Amino acid sequence: MSKKLNLLVVGSGGREHAICKSFNESQNVANVYCAPGNSGMVSTGINTVDISELNFKDLADFAVENQIDWTFVGPENALVAGITDYFRERKLAIFGPNKFAAQLEGSKDFALKFMVKHNIPTADYQTFQSTAEAISALADFSVPIVVKADGLAAGKGVTIAGSKADAQNVIGEMLANGEHQIVLEEFLTGPEYSLFVVVNGTDFQILPMAQDHKRAYDDDEGPNTGGMGAYSPVPQLSKKDYQEMISKIVEPSINGLNKDGFDYHGILYIGLILTDHGPKAIEYNVRLGDPETQVVLPRLKTDFAEVIDNCINDIKMKQLEIDSQACLGIVLAAKGYPHAPVKGQLLPDFGKRLGISIDYANVTAKDNRLYGNGGRILSVVALQDTLSNAQIKAYEYIDSLDFTDCYYRKDIGKKALE
Ligand code: AMP
Ligand code: GLY
Repeated sequence: MSKKLNLLVVGSGGREHAICKSFNESQNVANVYCAPGNSGMVSTGINTVDISELNFKDLADFAVENQIDWTFVGPENALVAGITDYFRERKLAIFGPNKFAAQLEGSKDFALKFMVKHNIPTADYQTFQSTAEAISALADFSVPIVVKADGLAAGKGVTIAGSKADAQNVIGEMLANGEHQIVLEEFLTGPEYSLFVVVNGTDFQILPMAQDHKRAYDDDEGPNTGGMGAYSPVPQLSKKDYQEMISKIVEPSINGLNKDGFDYHGILYIGLILTDHGPKAIEYNVRLGDPETQVVLPRLKTDFAEVIDNCINDIKMKQLEIDSQACLGIVLAAKGYPHAPVKGQLLPDFGKRLGISIDYANVTAKDNRLYGNGGRILSVVALQDTLSNAQIKAYEYIDSLDFTDCYYRKDIGKKALE
Protein backbone atom coordinates (compact mmCIF):
# COMPACT_ATOMS: atom_id res chain seq x y z
CA MET A 1 0.00 0.00 0.00
CA SER A 2 1.49 3.32 -1.03
CA LYS A 3 -0.59 5.73 1.00
CA LYS A 4 -2.05 5.30 4.46
CA LEU A 5 -5.74 4.49 4.54
CA ASN A 6 -8.68 6.36 6.01
CA LEU A 7 -11.33 3.84 7.01
CA LEU A 8 -14.97 4.06 8.04
CA VAL A 9 -16.56 1.30 10.12
CA VAL A 10 -20.36 1.28 10.35
CA GLY A 11 -21.92 0.12 13.63
CA SER A 12 -21.75 0.80 17.36
CA GLY A 13 -21.18 -2.40 19.32
CA GLY A 14 -18.34 -4.36 20.89
CA ARG A 15 -17.80 -6.06 17.54
CA GLU A 16 -17.22 -2.72 15.85
CA HIS A 17 -14.91 -1.63 18.67
CA ALA A 18 -12.79 -4.74 18.08
CA ILE A 19 -12.79 -4.17 14.29
CA CYS A 20 -11.78 -0.52 14.70
CA LYS A 21 -8.98 -1.42 17.14
CA SER A 22 -7.57 -4.01 14.78
CA PHE A 23 -7.64 -1.52 11.87
CA ASN A 24 -6.02 1.11 14.08
CA GLU A 25 -3.10 -1.24 14.85
CA SER A 26 -2.24 -1.48 11.16
CA GLN A 27 0.86 0.31 9.86
CA ASN A 28 -1.14 1.00 6.72
CA VAL A 29 -3.96 2.94 8.36
CA ALA A 30 -4.02 6.68 9.06
CA ASN A 31 -7.49 7.23 10.57
CA VAL A 32 -10.35 5.02 11.71
CA TYR A 33 -13.84 6.50 11.93
CA CYS A 34 -16.82 4.68 13.38
CA ALA A 35 -20.43 5.68 12.69
CA PRO A 36 -22.24 5.97 14.98
CA GLY A 37 -19.72 4.24 17.27
CA ASN A 38 -19.99 4.56 21.05
CA SER A 39 -18.48 6.77 23.74
CA GLY A 40 -16.19 4.02 25.00
CA MET A 41 -14.32 3.82 21.70
CA VAL A 42 -12.93 7.33 21.94
CA SER A 43 -10.30 6.45 24.57
CA THR A 44 -8.75 3.96 22.10
CA GLY A 45 -8.12 6.48 19.36
CA ILE A 46 -11.23 5.87 17.28
CA ASN A 47 -13.04 8.85 15.80
CA THR A 48 -16.77 8.46 16.35
CA VAL A 49 -19.13 10.07 13.86
CA ASP A 50 -22.68 10.90 14.82
CA ILE A 51 -24.48 9.31 11.85
CA SER A 52 -26.82 6.36 12.26
CA GLU A 53 -25.97 3.11 10.49
CA LEU A 54 -29.13 3.32 8.37
CA ASN A 55 -28.59 6.89 7.19
CA PHE A 56 -26.84 5.82 3.97
CA LYS A 57 -26.82 9.25 2.36
CA ASP A 58 -25.05 10.97 5.26
CA LEU A 59 -22.63 8.05 5.62
CA ALA A 60 -21.73 8.24 1.93
CA ASP A 61 -21.41 12.05 2.10
CA PHE A 62 -19.09 11.63 5.10
CA ALA A 63 -17.00 9.10 3.16
CA VAL A 64 -16.61 11.53 0.27
CA GLU A 65 -15.82 14.55 2.46
CA ASN A 66 -13.26 12.68 4.57
CA GLN A 67 -11.55 10.83 1.72
CA ILE A 68 -12.46 7.45 3.13
CA ASP A 69 -10.68 4.72 1.15
CA TRP A 70 -13.25 2.09 2.02
CA THR A 71 -16.07 1.36 4.45
CA PHE A 72 -16.49 -1.84 6.47
CA VAL A 73 -20.02 -2.70 7.58
CA GLY A 74 -20.48 -4.27 11.02
CA PRO A 75 -24.19 -4.95 11.54
CA GLU A 76 -26.71 -6.89 9.47
CA ASN A 77 -29.48 -4.28 9.47
CA ALA A 78 -27.48 -1.93 7.24
CA LEU A 79 -26.52 -4.77 4.87
CA VAL A 80 -30.05 -6.15 4.63
CA ALA A 81 -31.31 -2.61 3.94
CA GLY A 82 -28.84 -2.28 1.03
CA ILE A 83 -25.98 -0.06 2.22
CA THR A 84 -23.61 -1.80 -0.19
CA ASP A 85 -25.79 -1.21 -3.22
CA TYR A 86 -26.17 2.46 -2.24
CA PHE A 87 -22.40 3.00 -1.79
CA ARG A 88 -21.67 1.20 -5.07
CA GLU A 89 -24.13 3.44 -6.91
CA ARG A 90 -22.17 6.38 -5.53
CA LYS A 91 -18.90 4.72 -6.66
CA LEU A 92 -17.66 4.35 -3.07
CA ALA A 93 -15.66 1.30 -1.99
CA ILE A 94 -17.38 -0.81 0.66
CA PHE A 95 -16.89 -4.30 2.12
CA GLY A 96 -20.11 -6.20 2.78
CA PRO A 97 -22.58 -8.21 0.69
CA ASN A 98 -25.22 -6.52 -1.45
CA LYS A 99 -28.92 -6.47 -0.58
CA PHE A 100 -29.71 -9.60 -2.58
CA ALA A 101 -26.94 -11.64 -0.90
CA ALA A 102 -27.81 -10.25 2.54
CA GLN A 103 -31.08 -12.20 2.34
CA LEU A 104 -28.98 -15.14 3.53
CA GLU A 105 -29.35 -13.52 6.95
CA GLY A 106 -32.48 -11.46 6.28
CA SER A 107 -34.66 -14.48 5.49
CA LYS A 108 -34.31 -17.89 7.13
CA ASP A 109 -36.34 -19.46 4.31
CA PHE A 110 -34.02 -17.95 1.67
CA ALA A 111 -30.95 -19.35 3.51
CA LEU A 112 -32.45 -22.81 3.98
CA LYS A 113 -33.47 -23.02 0.30
CA PHE A 114 -29.89 -22.10 -0.65
CA MET A 115 -28.49 -24.81 1.67
CA VAL A 116 -30.82 -27.46 0.29
CA LYS A 117 -30.08 -26.45 -3.31
CA HIS A 118 -26.33 -26.81 -2.72
CA ASN A 119 -26.50 -29.99 -0.62
CA ILE A 120 -25.28 -28.28 2.52
CA PRO A 121 -26.28 -30.34 5.57
CA THR A 122 -28.86 -28.52 7.70
CA ALA A 123 -31.95 -29.23 9.83
CA ASP A 124 -35.17 -30.56 8.25
CA TYR A 125 -37.57 -27.65 7.95
CA GLN A 126 -40.82 -26.33 6.54
CA THR A 127 -41.91 -22.72 5.91
CA PHE A 128 -45.41 -21.34 6.48
CA GLN A 129 -47.34 -18.12 5.90
CA SER A 130 -50.44 -19.09 7.87
CA THR A 131 -50.93 -20.07 11.50
CA ALA A 132 -53.41 -22.82 10.64
CA GLU A 133 -51.03 -24.55 8.20
CA ALA A 134 -48.10 -24.30 10.59
CA ILE A 135 -50.12 -25.72 13.46
CA SER A 136 -51.38 -28.64 11.42
CA ALA A 137 -47.79 -29.41 10.35
CA LEU A 138 -46.68 -29.71 13.99
CA ALA A 139 -47.75 -33.34 13.73
CA ASP A 140 -44.69 -33.96 11.48
CA PHE A 141 -42.23 -32.70 14.11
CA SER A 142 -41.07 -34.21 17.37
CA VAL A 143 -40.35 -32.00 20.38
CA PRO A 144 -38.43 -29.86 21.02
CA ILE A 145 -39.41 -27.91 17.92
CA VAL A 146 -37.47 -24.91 16.69
CA VAL A 147 -39.77 -22.04 15.65
CA LYS A 148 -38.09 -19.21 13.73
CA ALA A 149 -39.39 -15.88 12.53
CA ASP A 150 -38.28 -15.62 8.90
CA GLY A 151 -36.94 -12.06 9.07
CA LEU A 152 -34.36 -10.20 11.16
CA ALA A 153 -35.31 -10.21 14.82
CA ALA A 154 -32.17 -9.00 16.62
CA GLY A 155 -31.51 -12.39 18.22
CA LYS A 156 -35.11 -12.77 19.41
CA GLY A 157 -36.51 -14.64 16.42
CA VAL A 158 -35.84 -18.21 17.54
CA THR A 159 -37.81 -20.19 20.11
CA ILE A 160 -37.05 -23.75 21.11
CA ALA A 161 -40.53 -25.00 22.03
CA GLY A 162 -40.54 -27.81 24.57
CA SER A 163 -44.11 -28.87 23.76
CA LYS A 164 -46.48 -28.66 20.82
CA ALA A 165 -48.73 -26.35 22.84
CA ASP A 166 -45.81 -23.94 23.33
CA ALA A 167 -44.94 -24.16 19.63
CA GLN A 168 -48.55 -23.37 18.76
CA ASN A 169 -48.50 -20.24 20.95
CA VAL A 170 -45.22 -19.00 19.53
CA ILE A 171 -46.37 -19.54 15.94
CA GLY A 172 -49.52 -17.53 16.64
CA GLU A 173 -47.58 -14.74 18.33
CA MET A 174 -44.92 -14.44 15.61
CA LEU A 175 -47.45 -14.26 12.78
CA ALA A 176 -49.70 -11.89 14.76
CA ASN A 177 -46.70 -9.60 15.42
CA GLY A 178 -46.28 -8.83 11.73
CA GLU A 179 -43.88 -11.60 10.69
CA HIS A 180 -45.04 -12.71 7.24
CA GLN A 181 -43.66 -16.21 7.41
CA ILE A 182 -42.22 -18.62 9.93
CA VAL A 183 -39.99 -21.67 9.74
CA LEU A 184 -40.41 -24.86 11.76
CA GLU A 185 -37.19 -26.78 12.16
CA GLU A 186 -35.93 -30.05 13.51
CA PHE A 187 -34.01 -29.53 16.78
CA LEU A 188 -30.34 -30.41 16.36
CA THR A 189 -28.31 -31.62 19.32
CA GLY A 190 -24.61 -30.98 19.77
CA PRO A 191 -22.05 -28.27 20.45
CA GLU A 192 -22.40 -25.05 18.48
CA TYR A 193 -19.56 -23.24 16.68
CA SER A 194 -19.15 -19.93 14.85
CA LEU A 195 -17.13 -19.97 11.67
CA PHE A 196 -16.24 -16.77 9.81
CA VAL A 197 -15.16 -16.64 6.21
CA VAL A 198 -13.75 -13.56 4.48
CA VAL A 199 -15.20 -13.90 1.00
CA ASN A 200 -14.13 -12.00 -2.10
CA GLY A 201 -16.02 -13.69 -4.92
CA THR A 202 -14.25 -17.02 -5.49
CA ASP A 203 -11.34 -16.12 -3.18
CA PHE A 204 -11.80 -16.83 0.53
CA GLN A 205 -9.95 -17.18 3.82
CA ILE A 206 -11.24 -18.67 7.08
CA LEU A 207 -10.79 -16.77 10.35
CA PRO A 208 -10.04 -18.58 13.63
CA MET A 209 -13.01 -20.54 14.91
CA ALA A 210 -14.89 -19.44 18.03
CA GLN A 211 -17.65 -20.55 20.36
CA ASP A 212 -20.32 -18.19 21.66
CA HIS A 213 -22.57 -18.60 24.73
CA LYS A 214 -26.07 -17.65 23.61
CA ARG A 215 -28.12 -18.19 26.75
CA ALA A 216 -28.26 -15.54 29.44
CA TYR A 217 -27.27 -17.67 32.43
CA ASP A 218 -24.66 -20.26 33.43
CA ASP A 219 -24.88 -23.80 32.06
CA ASP A 220 -26.89 -22.56 29.07
CA GLU A 221 -29.96 -21.71 31.09
CA GLY A 222 -32.30 -18.79 30.55
CA PRO A 223 -33.38 -16.84 27.49
CA ASN A 224 -31.44 -16.52 24.24
CA THR A 225 -29.33 -13.38 24.00
CA GLY A 226 -27.06 -11.80 21.40
CA GLY A 227 -24.21 -13.73 23.06
CA MET A 228 -22.74 -13.58 26.59
CA GLY A 229 -19.11 -14.45 25.95
CA ALA A 230 -16.84 -16.28 23.54
CA TYR A 231 -13.45 -17.87 23.17
CA SER A 232 -11.05 -18.93 20.46
CA PRO A 233 -9.58 -21.42 19.63
CA VAL A 234 -11.95 -24.32 20.26
CA PRO A 235 -9.60 -27.16 21.29
CA GLN A 236 -12.44 -29.65 21.82
CA LEU A 237 -13.16 -29.66 18.07
CA SER A 238 -11.17 -32.44 16.35
CA LYS A 239 -9.21 -31.83 13.13
CA LYS A 240 -11.42 -34.36 11.38
CA ASP A 241 -14.66 -32.62 12.35
CA TYR A 242 -13.17 -29.25 11.38
CA GLN A 243 -12.12 -30.60 7.97
CA GLU A 244 -15.64 -31.94 7.48
CA MET A 245 -17.04 -28.48 8.25
CA ILE A 246 -14.82 -27.06 5.52
CA SER A 247 -15.50 -29.70 2.88
CA LYS A 248 -19.22 -30.22 3.48
CA ILE A 249 -20.29 -26.72 4.48
CA VAL A 250 -17.78 -23.93 3.80
CA GLU A 251 -16.65 -24.95 0.30
CA PRO A 252 -20.14 -25.82 -1.01
CA SER A 253 -21.40 -22.51 0.42
CA ILE A 254 -18.76 -20.46 -1.41
CA ASN A 255 -19.23 -22.51 -4.60
CA GLY A 256 -23.00 -22.03 -4.33
CA LEU A 257 -22.64 -18.26 -3.95
CA ASN A 258 -20.54 -18.15 -7.11
CA LYS A 259 -22.70 -20.55 -9.14
CA ASP A 260 -25.80 -18.55 -8.26
CA GLY A 261 -24.16 -15.23 -9.14
CA PHE A 262 -24.38 -13.61 -5.68
CA ASP A 263 -21.25 -11.48 -6.30
CA TYR A 264 -20.45 -11.95 -2.59
CA HIS A 265 -17.83 -9.65 -1.09
CA GLY A 266 -17.98 -9.62 2.68
CA ILE A 267 -17.97 -11.82 5.73
CA LEU A 268 -19.96 -15.04 5.68
CA TYR A 269 -20.66 -16.26 9.22
CA ILE A 270 -21.78 -19.86 9.36
CA GLY A 271 -23.49 -21.07 12.55
CA LEU A 272 -22.80 -24.79 12.95
CA ILE A 273 -23.95 -27.60 15.20
CA LEU A 274 -21.76 -30.70 15.40
CA THR A 275 -24.39 -33.48 15.57
CA ASP A 276 -23.86 -37.23 15.88
CA HIS A 277 -24.33 -37.30 12.10
CA GLY A 278 -21.63 -34.73 11.44
CA PRO A 279 -21.69 -30.94 11.26
CA LYS A 280 -24.83 -29.15 10.11
CA ALA A 281 -25.29 -25.48 9.26
CA ILE A 282 -28.06 -23.84 11.25
CA GLU A 283 -27.75 -20.34 9.89
CA TYR A 284 -25.85 -17.88 7.77
CA ASN A 285 -25.11 -14.36 8.89
CA VAL A 286 -23.64 -11.84 6.50
CA ARG A 287 -21.31 -10.16 9.03
CA LEU A 288 -18.95 -10.93 11.87
CA GLY A 289 -20.36 -12.23 15.16
CA ASP A 290 -20.65 -10.30 18.40
CA PRO A 291 -19.05 -11.21 20.88
CA GLU A 292 -16.96 -13.62 18.77
CA THR A 293 -15.12 -10.88 16.83
CA GLN A 294 -13.69 -9.59 20.10
CA VAL A 295 -11.84 -12.92 20.58
CA VAL A 296 -11.15 -13.76 16.93
CA LEU A 297 -9.44 -10.59 15.68
CA PRO A 298 -6.84 -10.42 18.49
CA ARG A 299 -5.64 -13.87 17.31
CA LEU A 300 -5.14 -12.75 13.73
CA LYS A 301 -1.47 -12.00 13.08
CA THR A 302 -2.11 -10.99 9.49
CA ASP A 303 -3.01 -7.31 9.20
CA PHE A 304 -6.85 -7.36 8.99
CA ALA A 305 -6.93 -3.95 7.26
CA GLU A 306 -4.63 -5.36 4.57
CA VAL A 307 -6.84 -8.46 4.18
CA ILE A 308 -9.87 -6.27 3.49
CA ASP A 309 -7.87 -3.81 1.37
CA ASN A 310 -6.78 -6.72 -0.83
CA CYS A 311 -10.42 -7.74 -1.25
CA ILE A 312 -11.42 -4.18 -2.17
CA ASN A 313 -8.63 -4.05 -4.76
CA ASP A 314 -9.22 -7.60 -6.00
CA ILE A 315 -5.78 -8.79 -4.95
CA LYS A 316 -5.71 -12.44 -3.95
CA MET A 317 -5.75 -12.78 -0.15
CA LYS A 318 -2.70 -14.32 1.51
CA GLN A 319 -3.04 -17.35 3.78
CA LEU A 320 -4.01 -15.94 7.19
CA GLU A 321 -1.48 -16.22 9.99
CA ILE A 322 -3.04 -17.13 13.32
CA ASP A 323 -1.54 -16.48 16.75
CA SER A 324 -1.14 -19.61 18.86
CA GLN A 325 -2.33 -17.65 21.90
CA ALA A 326 -5.90 -18.06 23.16
CA CYS A 327 -8.49 -15.36 23.67
CA LEU A 328 -11.52 -15.35 25.95
CA GLY A 329 -14.13 -12.62 26.34
CA ILE A 330 -16.82 -12.17 28.98
CA VAL A 331 -19.79 -9.94 28.25
CA LEU A 332 -20.91 -7.61 31.01
CA ALA A 333 -24.66 -7.14 30.49
CA ALA A 334 -27.17 -4.83 32.13
CA LYS A 335 -29.19 -6.37 34.94
CA GLY A 336 -32.48 -7.56 33.43
CA TYR A 337 -31.02 -8.17 29.93
CA PRO A 338 -32.42 -9.41 27.55
CA HIS A 339 -36.04 -8.70 28.58
CA ALA A 340 -35.87 -5.59 30.78
CA PRO A 341 -32.33 -4.19 30.92
CA VAL A 342 -31.59 -1.52 33.53
CA LYS A 343 -29.91 1.60 32.14
CA GLY A 344 -27.78 4.38 33.59
CA GLN A 345 -25.45 2.42 35.92
CA LEU A 346 -22.12 4.13 36.53
CA LEU A 347 -19.28 1.95 35.24
CA PRO A 348 -16.01 1.53 37.11
CA ASP A 349 -12.80 3.04 35.83
CA PHE A 350 -11.11 0.39 33.73
CA GLY A 351 -7.43 0.94 34.38
CA LYS A 352 -4.96 -0.46 31.84
CA ARG A 353 -4.05 -4.04 32.67
CA LEU A 354 -1.55 -6.08 30.65
CA GLY A 355 -3.25 -8.81 28.63
CA ILE A 356 -6.75 -7.38 29.16
CA SER A 357 -8.73 -5.23 26.79
CA ILE A 358 -12.22 -3.75 27.00
CA ASP A 359 -14.50 -3.62 23.98
CA TYR A 360 -17.33 -1.18 24.65
CA ALA A 361 -20.86 -1.57 23.34
CA ASN A 362 -23.89 0.04 24.99
CA VAL A 363 -22.35 2.91 26.92
CA THR A 364 -22.88 6.66 27.20
CA ALA A 365 -20.49 9.27 28.58
CA LYS A 366 -21.13 12.11 31.02
CA ASP A 367 -18.53 14.24 32.83
CA ASN A 368 -15.73 11.91 31.73
CA ARG A 369 -17.42 8.82 33.15
CA LEU A 370 -19.10 5.97 31.30
CA TYR A 371 -22.59 4.67 32.08
CA GLY A 372 -24.40 1.55 30.91
CA ASN A 373 -27.10 2.16 28.33
CA GLY A 374 -28.96 -1.16 28.40
CA GLY A 375 -28.27 -4.54 26.78
CA ARG A 376 -24.72 -5.78 26.47
CA ILE A 377 -22.50 -3.07 27.94
CA LEU A 378 -18.97 -4.27 27.17
CA SER A 379 -16.70 -7.30 26.84
CA VAL A 380 -13.68 -7.99 29.03
CA VAL A 381 -11.20 -9.79 26.78
CA ALA A 382 -8.04 -11.64 27.83
CA LEU A 383 -5.32 -12.85 25.46
CA GLN A 384 -2.94 -15.41 27.03
CA ASP A 385 -0.69 -18.32 26.12
CA THR A 386 -3.41 -20.88 26.91
CA LEU A 387 -7.20 -20.83 27.03
CA SER A 388 -7.13 -21.79 30.67
CA ASN A 389 -4.91 -18.81 31.49
CA ALA A 390 -7.09 -16.51 29.40
CA GLN A 391 -10.12 -17.69 31.39
CA ILE A 392 -8.35 -17.17 34.73
CA LYS A 393 -7.10 -13.73 33.72
CA ALA A 394 -10.47 -12.52 32.38
CA TYR A 395 -12.34 -13.69 35.50
CA GLU A 396 -9.71 -12.31 37.89
CA TYR A 397 -10.15 -8.94 36.26
CA ILE A 398 -13.96 -8.85 35.97
CA ASP A 399 -14.39 -10.22 39.52
CA SER A 400 -12.19 -7.39 40.82
CA LEU A 401 -14.43 -4.69 39.35
CA ASP A 402 -16.91 -2.80 41.40
CA PHE A 403 -20.25 -2.28 39.65
CA THR A 404 -23.98 -2.46 40.26
CA ASP A 405 -26.93 -3.45 38.08
CA CYS A 406 -24.83 -5.62 35.77
CA TYR A 407 -24.27 -9.35 35.46
CA TYR A 408 -22.06 -11.83 33.59
CA ARG A 409 -21.85 -15.57 33.10
CA LYS A 410 -19.35 -17.39 35.30
CA ASP A 411 -18.76 -20.31 32.94
CA ILE A 412 -17.36 -18.85 29.72
CA GLY A 413 -14.90 -21.36 28.27
CA LYS A 414 -16.00 -24.22 30.55
CA LYS A 415 -16.96 -26.50 27.64
CA ALA A 416 -13.48 -26.29 26.16
CA LEU A 417 -11.67 -26.87 29.44
CA GLU A 418 -13.64 -29.56 31.23
P1 AMP B 1 -30.30 -17.68 15.44
O1 AMP B 1 -31.18 -16.56 15.90
O2 AMP B 1 -30.65 -18.25 14.12
O3 AMP B 1 -28.85 -17.31 15.67
O4 AMP B 1 -30.54 -18.88 16.46
C1 AMP B 1 -30.39 -18.69 17.82
C2 AMP B 1 -29.95 -19.96 18.49
O5 AMP B 1 -30.99 -20.93 18.44
C3 AMP B 1 -28.79 -20.65 17.83
O6 AMP B 1 -27.58 -20.07 18.17
C4 AMP B 1 -28.95 -22.06 18.36
O7 AMP B 1 -28.44 -22.15 19.68
C5 AMP B 1 -30.43 -22.23 18.41
N1 AMP B 1 -30.90 -22.95 17.21
C6 AMP B 1 -31.26 -22.43 16.03
N2 AMP B 1 -31.64 -23.40 15.17
C7 AMP B 1 -31.52 -24.57 15.83
C8 AMP B 1 -31.77 -25.94 15.49
N3 AMP B 1 -32.27 -26.31 14.31
N4 AMP B 1 -31.52 -26.87 16.45
C9 AMP B 1 -31.04 -26.52 17.67
N5 AMP B 1 -30.81 -25.25 18.04
C10 AMP B 1 -31.05 -24.28 17.15
N1 GLY C 1 -22.93 -14.02 18.53
C1 GLY C 1 -23.98 -14.30 17.66
C2 GLY C 1 -24.20 -13.35 16.59
O1 GLY C 1 -23.41 -12.44 16.38
O2 GLY C 1 -25.18 -13.51 15.89
